[in-house]
Amino acid sequence: MCGITARIGNDGSLEDLLVSLKNLEYRGYDSAGIAVQNGAGIEVSKCEGEVSELKAQLTANEHDGPIGIGHTRWSTHGPPTDENAHPHTGCEGRVTAVHNGIIENYAALRESLQDRGHEFTSDTDTEVIPHLVEERLNDGLESEAAFRDAIGELEGSYAIALMIDGDPAVYATRSGSPLVVGIGEDANYLASDVPAFLEFTDRVIYLEDGDDIVVTPDDHRITDGAGRSVSRPTETVEWEPGDAEKGGFDHYMLKEIHEQPVSLRQTIHGRIEGEDVVLEDFPPGTFDGISRVQFVACGTSYHAGMYGEWLLSKWGIDANTFIASEYAAYPAPVDDETLVIGVTQSGETADTLEALQSARERGARTLALTNVIGSTAARTCDDALFIRAGPEIGVAATKTFSSQVATLVLLGERLTRDITGEPTADCRERLESLESLPDHVEGVIENSRAASISHRWLGDNGHFFIGRGNAYSVALEGALKFKEITYEHAEGFAAGELKHGPLALVTSDTPVFAIGTGRHSKRLESNVREIQTRGAPVIAVTPRTATSLTDTADEFLSVPAAHPDLVAILANVQLQLIAYHAADEMERSIDKPRNLAKSVTVE
Ligand code: AGP
Repeated sequence: MCGITARIGNDGSLEDLLVSLKNLEYRGYDSAGIAVQNGAGIEVSKCEGEVSELKAQLTANEHDGPIGIGHTRWSTHGPPTDENAHPHTGCEGRVTAVHNGIIENYAALRESLQDRGHEFTSDTDTEVIPHLVEERLNDGLESEAAFRDAIGELEGSYAIALMIDGDPAVYATRSGSPLVVGIGEDANYLASDVPAFLEFTDRVIYLEDGDDIVVTPDDHRITDGAGRSVSRPTETVEWEPGDAEKGGFDHYMLKEIHEQPVSLRQTIHGRIEGEDVVLEDFPPGTFDGISRVQFVACGTSYHAGMYGEWLLSKWGIDANTFIASEYAAYPAPVDDETLVIGVTQSGETADTLEALQSARERGARTLALTNVIGSTAARTCDDALFIRAGPEIGVAATKTFSSQVATLVLLGERLTRDITGEPTADCRERLESLESLPDHVEGVIENSRAASISHRWLGDNGHFFIGRGNAYSVALEGALKFKEITYEHAEGFAAGELKHGPLALVTSDTPVFAIGTGRHSKRLESNVREIQTRGAPVIAVTPRTATSLTDTADEFLSVPAAHPDLVAILANVQLQLIAYHAADEMERSIDKPRNLAKSVTVE
């Protein structure tokens, strides 16, 4: 869950490496480091803390060189300390490496290296890599052969970039963790993710698992594990460098909340024609033979999957949602009539990739619903459908949730027609409402009173979110957003479930957000009364038309009366703003909440 990067040029690399690390910081931010070759050896600088601390520690000229590697960390093995920060070096200091992933057999490798006299300076799994390579160089192997042979010893998931002093190249490989190559004018780049070097080049090569690569200032060579040449296409990414900047907002999260009208327009663009849904690569009949749909996902994507399940079930399709890390061990019925949809914005979440792998092994057809073209999920599933939300940097997912659900409404229409032979009921009204959703979201953002409400109603004893039907998944999502960035206790519940236990937690200090879609209002109203009789304030998030709710609640955040299947998406935007303003008031690290990272690439 770290970010790795490399720059291979003919002039100073330090500045670009620092920019790339900053752009990768959403992947992990508890320590950082850089190593450069400057002709007088390899210079390593690393420290606990964010990239800004590393930058302060570095003095440009002294440490610069044409070839360098860098790392920003999210600890898995060994606490965040200067010693455990990457890059790691072998005994003689001529081999240094950065790594993202987990070397599962590192303890055995470390022990045998120590038996052969190697000394270790960190607690990390990564440090075995430069020692293994150094040993092979001492045995007389050439750089590339030494690298490949050492990699052959590793078990687990990894993306690695490695330098050997005096060798004007970077050696890299990927297996289970993402790694992309940037082909620039004056230099070449490697990174865990495209935003790292987007401001230097938009020409990208996506490496596959098992690819080894040697990158020099003017060229690159890709081989497989046996050293045979492999060719990979160079693609041009559509994202603009500005997409990965804050654009004048205090936080990426707030910028991405405000980007939802634009990202939703991108998501639905060209995909609705009257009563028809037009999904590139998914013409009518694509899902003939499918009789069951299963969603696998984590976190926010899991909540989007639940929303999708609710829609499909309503349209007569056998659908279920599974927490990805539970799926492989779960005896769900799977066969060749089962479509398993991995919902994952990054396309790199290890738990979801593992669930998709398990589905494939059980004979299912797999589809990646993702935001990242070229991601592992998109490349390893039978099909991929892109949500087109643009890069999301803030760790807390916001615009990708709305785009995931909007894409699921479209995919659901395709699936329903292929599986049941009929379009969904009131399809035209729903698609018309979906086309106006971006404008509705704009209105919600412009008129939201979330800042004053989160200021007035912050509780000391927990925050609860309740909803019925598809608003239940949004209640869970609202609670997750609140927890992630405020570090305060928050929980989502099916509104009818409170009286079966959680109501015991409700006090005058636990504000409750009640999400209304215009359906089940009467029932939700009685749940609200149950809560109010225990003294808790209730904030209704619902269309103005749901008067039974708005009249009952203590406070009210309004959303436009869109199609009842879509209102919850609008309510979720209000909840994103509630969480944002609450965290801002608490001066939390909103874009990089403690203990979290944007893309969880380890199981
Ligand atoms: C959401 O705000 C979190 N960042 C996290 O729960 C996230 O949704 C989860 O890790 C899944 O990520 P993915 O969509 O990239 O697979």
